[in-house]
Amino acid sequence: MNAVKQDRHHDHSLVEILAVLGIDLLLLCLTLIAGASRAGLIQTLPLAQLSMPTAAPTMNVVAAGYSSTTQPATPTPDPRPPLRALAEARGLLVGVSVAPWWLEDPHYSALLTRQFNAIIPENAMKWDTIHPEPDRYDFSQGDAIVEFARRNGLKVRGHTLAWGNQLSQWMLEGDFTRDQWIQILHDHIITVVGHYRGANNDHTVFAWDVVNEAVGLQGELYSNFWLQKIGPEYIPLAFQFAHEADPDALLFYNDNGGEGLNPKSQGIYNLVQGLVKSDVPIDGVGLQLHTDTFIAPSEAELVANMKRLANLGLQVHITEMDVRVQNIKKSLSEKLQDQAGIYRRVISACLASPNCTGFFTWGLTDRFSWIPGHTGYPDAPLLFDENYQPKPALDAILEMLK
Ligand code: XIL
Repeated sequence: MNAVKQDRHHDHSLVEILAVLGIDLLLLCLTLIAGASRAGLIQTLPLAQLSMPTAAPTMNVVAAGYSSTTQPATPTPDPRPPLRALAEARGLLVGVSVAPWWLEDPHYSALLTRQFNAIIPENAMKWDTIHPEPDRYDFSQGDAIVEFARRNGLKVRGHTLAWGNQLSQWMLEGDFTRDQWIQILHDHIITVVGHYRGANNDHTVFAWDVVNEAVGLQGELYSNFWLQKIGPEYIPLAFQFAHEADPDALLFYNDNGGEGLNPKSQGIYNLVQGLVKSDVPIDGVGLQLHTDTFIAPSEAELVANMKRLANLGLQVHITEMDVRVQNIKKSLSEKLQDQAGIYRRVISACLASPNCTGFFTWGLTDRFSWIPGHTGYPDAPLLFDENYQPKPALDAILEMLK
């Protein structure tokens, strides 16, 4: 398991990097000169006082069909080998996204730590939570997750640094120049990544989704907040800032819908190829895999995509997998069998690809999946049901890992 990255040499100039991305050099020079003239601006903002975790929002469980409003059953001894043990024997990280308040439920935390060796903060490290005001950071939720991971010997993927969603109100309302936005991005990444690198740097937070969802459906750069404020350079800059803050962390580009072979995955490939060629410190690509039983990419496409990324020297993590089964006219057990087939296919593609080093689902149990809230329909997209019981999808994965 390559949890800590090898030392890599990243000494190409920013000019070369931007040239690969087709960015105007004159504009760049002016920017750099202007930036240098304000030397001293690039500082780390003071860390906010740590505060106690805020109260958990009320869970909005969409009940019809899949979910239960009763408490999960007390776990009965499970004869299956833990997923975590089988994955570790294969050198694979396996994990789920979490919210800090879920970890306080002993049934939840017992299931999580038995089955998985890594976690991702589902929302706790996004700008609107962790950086609520220009000069105030709130690490309370992220710290609760990282402390839980430390206590239980889990790894943490940091999520996420440069994304167009879940930004703070002060940013959406902010009237800043391009240089100031670069400064803001820099200070945020240095502060957040620096905070989780920590004084003792135990590599608990071993990886970061540095740039999230930057590519559009046709492979173009998606016109998100950062593209509008900074231009395409925000991408290499974000990776450089993250590397500056934690040279040991694995740095990922993460996206959804570009897992197989299509215009979007071609666009992602072109982007990361450009970054690698210009020695931008990128270590891997996250394939989110929010999917369903119809649109899921074939195993052959997944393997081909992972292979071309391997040829660039990049790792792959499956970062946010869930498989929707809503609005299908089949019995629940048929739907769960179909779903198991998709999970089997993805883990099989991962096992066939030596650069696929992590497999994560977006949530532990159907009880707390984001999908019903996001789509407006009840669903059951994960490996454990709303009563924390294993589903056919878990058995399919265990079978592949044996
Ligand atoms: C989702 C969370 O699961 C929700 O709780 C939140 O309301 C919206 O964001 N791609 C990502 C994740 O990279 O951060 C998103 O998470 C799902 C899509």
